Amino acid sequence: MKRLDWNSDLVLDIDSVDSQHRYLFDLFNRISESSDVVIDEEGLIDKLLEFTQYHFDHEEKFIAKLGFPAAEWEHHRRQHREFLEACRALRGSPTWKLLDYFQDWFLAHTLGEDMRIKEYLDQGPDLKGVSPEGR
Ligand SMILES: [Fe+2]
Ligand SMILES: [Fe+2]
Repeated sequence: MKRLDWNSDLVLDIDSVDSQHRYLFDLFNRISESSDVVIDEEGLIDKLLEFTQYHFDHEEKFIAKLGFPAAEWEHHRRQHREFLEACRALRGSPTWKLLDYFQDWFLAHTLGEDMRIKEYLDQGPDLKGVSPEGR
């Protein structure tokens, strides 16, 4: 069974982003453990993809406020976009294919690209309280 297990290596120290990541991990595990995900009466897979989209929007707004290097920011956004497109293309495939892809990509992305946000913040001014909505 596919699982996304949380551990301290995944913590960015950005409360909003960390809690969204944890929520996505929990939702992913719930889907993976579900006995009849093929029918998916609760619409959990749609919920997973919708929340992923919401999370990416949030993260991108956050990054935009940091003055992150433009090329890197664009690369990060492109990764988000391409991932969601690939997930949506897998909606017609057996669920395990989507879960396999989601698990591998999400873990690698969080430990790689997302961790760069933490590294960037750790070098600069304290902007961790910055909200993407500017509140
Ligand atoms: Fe993320
Ligand atoms: Fe990201």
